[in-house]
Amino acid sequence: MRHAAYIFDAYGTLFDIHAAVRRHAAEIGPDGLLLSEIWRAKQLEYSWVRTLMGAHADFWQLTEQALDYAFRKVPSVDPAMRAKLLDAYWHLDCYPEVPAVLRALKDNGARLAILSNGSPEMLDAAVRSAALDMILDEVFSVESVRRFKPDQSVYDLVASNWRLYPDAVSFQSSNRWDIAGAAKFGFRTVWINRNSQPDEYSDHPPHLILPSLEGLLTHG
Ligand code: LAC
Repeated sequence: MRHAAYIFDAYGTLFDIHAAVRRHAAEIGPDGLLLSEIWRAKQLEYSWVRTLMGAHADFWQLTEQALDYAFRKVPSVDPAMRAKLLDAYWHLDCYPEVPAVLRALKDNGARLAILSNGSPEMLDAAVRSAALDMILDEVFSVESVRRFKPDQSVYDLVASNWRLYPDAVSFQSSNRWDIAGAAKFGFRTVWINRNSQPDEYSDHPPHLILPSLEGLLTHG
């Protein structure tokens, strides 16, 4: 057991955000992946811009606005899919290794939590639908500080609430920019590079790079 606490980003790290689109792939047509990528990119852009402007809106509102933008950018996809795609966001699949890895870490005595941009309602629904509610000790949402990652006050939520020094925390995210923010805060960071993306933010490197969460059990 190397760390007292393991903290996980939610979307893209535990939950498969592109599953919403894949689930309706036949109805969406060939531009589904493009729509999904624009949806995600805009959702994140809106979060950063709002924190920089000091004009917070919760992640659910940004998720809706980002999808509306994606529909305008990809007119081949029927906007009548809107309700189905948004609904799927509340029942996202978790990646296959997630339940067993989290259970093993917990059985080894670690405390486990999510730290996410998601609103408490979105996270609660996703956690329950993936049956992770019995494994996680806590779900930290940015809503309590009304600023989005990588604002340093977000990472401090974990350290302050659990009274831990940052280096006692292992932070896992598939988002390289999130890893940069967490590394700057002082967490031990593990970049879950699921899709073999090139590295960036070289002045804030991850401590470890893994292709999935499974390696946490052998590499700490
Ligand atoms: C989250 C996004 C950034 O869960 O993936 O916070």
